[in-house]
Amino acid sequence: MKAEIQSAGFTQQLASRFEEVYGHPPRVETQAPGRVNLLGEHVDYNQGLVLPIAIDRKLSLAAAPTSDGIVSLNALDLGEQVSFHLDNVSDQCDLSGRPLPGWALYPAAIADVLQRAGLAISGMQAVYRSDIPIGAGLSSSAAVEVAFATTWQAMSGWEMDKLALAKLCQQAENEYVGVSSGLMDQFASACGVEGHVLCFDTRSLEWAAYDLPPGTVIIIADSGIRRSLAGSAYNDRRSACEQAVDLLRKYLPGIQSLRDVSTVELAAYSTYLPDEIEIRAEHVVKEIHRVDQAIIALRRGDARMFGGFMFASHKSLRELYEVSLPELDKLVEIARGLPGIYGARLTGAGFGGCTVNLVEAKDAPVFIEGLQEGYHNKTGREAKVYLCYASNGAEARLTNLL
Ligand code: GLA
Repeated sequence: MKAEIQSAGFTQQLASRFEEVYGHPPRVETQAPGRVNLLGEHVDYNQGLVLPIAIDRKLSLAAAPTSDGIVSLNALDLGEQVSFHLDNVSDQCDLSGRPLPGWALYPAAIADVLQRAGLAISGMQAVYRSDIPIGAGLSSSAAVEVAFATTWQAMSGWEMDKLALAKLCQQAENEYVGVSSGLMDQFASACGVEGHVLCFDTRSLEWAAYDLPPGTVIIIADSGIRRSLAGSAYNDRRSACEQAVDLLRKYLPGIQSLRDVSTVELAAYSTYLPDEIEIRAEHVVKEIHRVDQAIIALRRGDARMFGGFMFASHKSLRELYEVSLPELDKLVEIARGLPGIYGARLTGAGFGGCTVNLVEAKDAPVFIEGLQEGYHNKTGREAKVYLCYASNGAEARLTNLL
């Protein structure tokens, strides 16, 4: 309830800002959440299952259509504006021909992909802000993509289910922004279910929603380290997985992805892989297996079992996939010693950002304080540590209809 009231105030302020900028009220108000992934890291581009939740931090957008084909963006958090024309969106340039700034590539990518998919869209005036920290592994960019796609859909009226919209957003990020991300983030932002963990099969695209283990809460701890070079390091990891599949095909003909390789098969054939490819593949194959087991834990409501897989996942991300950092390792190590902890691990692509913790609800206040204090004592840095609630996916609301 509290979150709803705050959110209503938030969108009202945004609508007033829109009116100040454009001189008339917005016609659509949209919210799209970030996500935190509980388990199944770096497996979505290997056709594995993932267990994210859409979080109660979101991007809020107020918009109105225009008939001149111009998309005008006001990013309030950055204090920056830029405009581009729908006809020239593939050039990635603004109205005066200058390259679009990085932050504007995401909305532009959506305009590009929707048009290429043959969907009619109009120009747009947009004012937006987000309380999802950027570069923290909580999918701030997927929230931008999904918010703009949902807004264009609401303004244009074409039918499309949320999963199909999420796929277009992923395509936009892959082809226009140039990050070869999987589908998890856009899926979670589009399809989130309040109070539930999503279980998403990135191969069949089937999904279900599960309860969290009874009496537990999710706590996010932000290391304060923002990732750098994540794009290229991320693409490197992805290409290592593709190389592993190519090489393993010699022994396992017919495999499509690392999803098709069992832990037993990997144990037999990994010795034929170059060292670096071997450890990357080992993380992925075992992480996919861990998620299968963790789903059993969720069905049983067994927090300790689920948490054990989270710790194991972190170890594997640190030692085999090599996407952790000392600060993230510290957060996990400190969490392990605190009251109420079931499991902790880095979440998202890694190289900085946040850890996710599964904690006994009654111990949450002590846990939060202990983690903040411990992190400060061991690193001299401040961590933002907070409770996180699973929320619904993106929604757009038509307002001020003429
Ligand atoms: C990023 C990508 C996702 C996923 C995660 C790692 O968030 O956008 O598709 O690959 O990293 O699990």
